[in-house]
Amino acid sequence: MAGVARLDLNESPFAPPREVTRRVEEELARINRYPERGLIDKAYEALSTYTGVEKDYITITCGGDSALYMLFTMLASQGDRVAIPRYSFSTIKKLARSLGFRVSEVPLWEDGEWWSIDREALFEAARGASLTVIDNPNNPTGSMLLQEITVEELARESKGFLVIDEAYYEFSRETVAGLVPESSNLVVVRTLSKAFSLAGLRVGYVVAPKEIAERIRYLNPYSTSRLSLAAIIAYMSPENLKHVRTVVEYVDRWKEKLRRETYKMGVKTYKSKANFILMDTGVEKAGEKLENLGVKVRRVEISDTMVRASIGMEWENEKLLEALQELKTR
Ligand SMILES: Cc1ncc(COP(=O)(O)O)c(C=O)c1O
Repeated sequence: MAGVARLDLNESPFAPPREVTRRVEEELARINRYPERGLIDKAYEALSTYTGVEKDYITITCGGDSALYMLFTMLASQGDRVAIPRYSFSTIKKLARSLGFRVSEVPLWEDGEWWSIDREALFEAARGASLTVIDNPNNPTGSMLLQEITVEELARESKGFLVIDEAYYEFSRETVAGLVPESSNLVVVRTLSKAFSLAGLRVGYVVAPKEIAERIRYLNPYSTSRLSLAAIIAYMSPENLKHVRTVVEYVDRWKEKLRRETYKMGVKTYKSKANFILMDTGVEKAGEKLENLGVKVRRVEISDTMVRASIGMEWENEKLLEALQELKTR
């Protein structure tokens, strides 16, 4: 199939279930009205059931991006120290650098087929930071940087708040959301942009200590549209949640296939707990060259021989393989 393969944004290649889009369409007829209490409560109840955490700990946001923005501005002040991994999701880096914080970047290192964070440097940085933010799984490596036990320990040892960005939780199947009610400084960020196929609707949520969750709701009482609330409610039925499992299984299958096929070409593809893979092509300016071959991938700051590619539609993944083959044989 002709056309550019769009593999640079970690989107889901599938549309959400019909039942979800039907509920959103229905809600369109009422967008002259602010969301009423009943609709809001139902969405919170749905997320409470999904996360297993009481709804007082949850705040719905306009995507993970805006959740991160609110947390950065609420939990740290100008001049404070903020700890983040080097390398991490672009918004985390951008916020940390542009809001006037002093940034401690904790190194990641290549650990065979995964990437790991320097544990000692992380604890050291967190002890001196008002805010520590870790994407787990990490973007762009796809690796889990922290395990549950480390998160508990890190939260205890941190001077300030510890924010764990679990945008790819559905793919990693590992979460620390359940630890939030027992902690005073642990916050989890989630999104419906990835496995739920709702990137264009902009829906995310935060699981945070009650007073933090309440403060975000208080400061942004109408930050979530009726359409987003309707989508959350419709999604949380067992039938519609099957869509998430389908997306995850499809992504798992393709990650394995891409690793196998790229290995044969002499491309190193790291293992991933997310819906994207990090590849070392060994070819300079790989991102630019792949783009010229009709495949949009994400360039990464680790090296210009490396790129990050989302798992896309079948034809997009096939096109990625063809482009890599061409890149390697030129
Ligand atoms: C680690 C991480 N957090 C958050 C997001 C933002 O997601 P959203 O679409 O909910 O703003 C992304 C998107 O790529 C991401 O990779």
